[in-house]
Amino acid sequence: MSALFTPLRIGNLEFVNRIVIAPMCQYSAVEGCMNDWHLIHLGHLALSGAALLTIEATAVLPEGRITYADVGLWDHATEDAIGRTLAGVRRWSKMPIAIQLSHAGRKASTEVPWKGGAQIPPGDAKGWEMVAPSAVPNVDGNRPPVALDRGGLAQIRDAFAAAAQRAARLGVDAIQLHGAHGYLLHQFLSPLSNRRDDEYGGSLENRMRFPLEVFDAVRTIFPGDRPVSVRVSGTDWVEGGWNIEQTCAFAAMLEAAGCDAVHISSGGLHPAQRIPVGPSYQVPLARTVKTAVGIPAVAVGLIAGFDQAEAIVATREADMVGLARTILYDPRWPWHAAAELGAQVQAPFQYLRSQRTGR
Ligand SMILES: Cc1cc2nc3c(=O)[nH]c(=O)nc-3n(C[C@H](O)[C@H](O)[C@H](O)COP(=O)(O)O)c2cc1C
Repeated sequence: MSALFTPLRIGNLEFVNRIVIAPMCQYSAVEGCMNDWHLIHLGHLALSGAALLTIEATAVLPEGRITYADVGLWDHATEDAIGRTLAGVRRWSKMPIAIQLSHAGRKASTEVPWKGGAQIPPGDAKGWEMVAPSAVPNVDGNRPPVALDRGGLAQIRDAFAAAAQRAARLGVDAIQLHGAHGYLLHQFLSPLSNRRDDEYGGSLENRMRFPLEVFDAVRTIFPGDRPVSVRVSGTDWVEGGWNIEQTCAFAAMLEAAGCDAVHISSGGLHPAQRIPVGPSYQVPLARTVKTAVGIPAVAVGLIAGFDQAEAIVATREADMVGLARTILYDPRWPWHAAAELGAQVQAPFQYLRSQRTGR
């Protein structure tokens, strides 16, 4: 029996196997609205046989977008656009769907990656003023963000809750909060980006306060039988930054607050990061977080081999594996993994004749 293809239940959600499609920004929305690209992209991933499809980082406010082409969920128009996409995907796939809710903080207002990804100034038609815990730019020489005051914090917390309410209305099966990769919630956690001297900065307890407030607001409004998870960076990979011990403490606080799973990525906050990139390079972070919490942990990052993924779950280094580039390159990866590991996936009737033995 393959460990990778052993079902798992989180809350009321049944996962048919341990393969999670990680969130992937497409930078293809217009005014925050999904369009046919998202239907094609999410639609083909929804036929992949994975256990869960996670919608890309979705901004809870217009100024929380990384780029002007990010997906949003802040008003009727953005909600309707996601609703149309989901209706199309759901018509042909039963795969559970999660959405990653996000605010980019000081990493907002940039050009799309394939046009260089540079900061766009507020005066430009495609740019806006960035906000963050402190007025510290993400890269020396970049324009600094505006430090959030009490009103700004409350507005962002409420925007996360409002987006969660819209997601609930859309029938989204689970929410993932983006607390990783140097975006706003991570900016509060890391001492490198959070230089506040009020109760939201300084000690670890204070730096965790705003992300935990956001989590509580989302958990309160999203239906209790649907999971809420958090994606974290397990380390900044910078001396004196956010590290794995602090991640374990944060994960334990999240678990106590009712979090259903943690998804452990890393980095993205500081240009001095030195990441030992290689196959499974973030798996040890997930394994360490698992020593601190009882909720499922998802590992991600250069997981591409069938035996590699099988071993991660079988040896309990993580409960599930997240795939991003791997499944973009091979959207039938779970089919191929199942064939290799002697398991099965649900394939659409229209594609049944593709089985090699059935010709
Ligand atoms: C095209 C692309 C878009 C991504 N967008 C997001 C995103 O919206 N949210 C997020 O948390 N991570 C995002 N990531 C990171 C992936 O979810 C994943 O953590 C990372 O690529 C490592 O997994 P991999 O080696 O399987 O690609 C993105 C990665 C890629 C390749």
